[in-house]
Amino acid sequence: MIIDQHTALYGVIGNPVRHSLSPILHNAAFSATGLNAVYLAFETGDIEECVKGIRALGIKGASITIPFKTTVMPFLDEIDPLAKRIGAVNTIVNDSGRLKGYNTDALGALKALEENVKLPGMTCLIIGAGGAARAIGFMLKEQDVAVSIVNRSRKRGEALAASLGCPFVPLDEISGAKGGLLVQTTSVGMYPDIDKCPVPENILEHGMVVMDIVYFPAETRLLNLAKDRGCVIISGVDMLIN
Ligand code: ATR
Repeated sequence: MIIDQHTALYGVIGNPVRHSLSPILHNAAFSATGLNAVYLAFETGDIEECVKGIRALGIKGASITIPFKTTVMPFLDEIDPLAKRIGAVNTIVNDSGRLKGYNTDALGALKALEENVKLPGMTCLIIGAGGAARAIGFMLKEQDVAVSIVNRSRKRGEALAASLGCPFVPLDEISGAKGGLLVQTTSVGMYPDIDKCPVPENILEHGMVVMDIVYFPAETRLLNLAKDRGCVIISGVDMLIN
């Protein structure tokens, strides 16, 4: 690939972001499709200034990750209806200076899950109450899944459970909760803390479906334990690619 005066710039914006596979993924796609474009990783502490940078430099598009998926929203010109309902944006498209926000987390997770399970009628424990939990929670509700939010902090967990209209379970009481499906949406287990698992091992029962949205490592400690205990496991890599 030759970078020249016409090369379009894309990137992922987050903090931390150095573990991100998105640059490798997108640059491989650009090269396979012959697009004159590059995709970089931008680690920042200031999302507002970053959005100004997207406008000023004519950056064509950006992926938005931890911790900016919600805080980026006020700085955009338009939010896609699904992203608005979810309350989080993970993709910005720059359409001739007009910045529109989308959420592809929910659809990526849905496709990864549907490749492995029939969702309608299942019960699901979602671990975490951040932007990803919110996106997946809304999507699962639409698929007729009975969702419960499990979170470390009561305040955030109860707030998300209330907006989804579903039960809240404190993380330290998860042993009393039931779910055929478990979706892990926190950063626990992500590199470099790869020995951490956010839930006690004994809740992982044979036949359960366990998905982790962490994709680095591709098989987290949670998925490792789940596999050993006879669960069906779904890696964050599947969601990322979808
Ligand atoms: P995102 O928007 O990408 O989902 P986030 O908004 O930073 O990310 O959300 C992080 C989630 O991970 C939160 O639910 C957080 O729990 P708290 O509400 O208690 O902060 C959860 N989380 C982060 N670190 C955790 C840890 N060490 N143990 C348990 N939960 C953790």
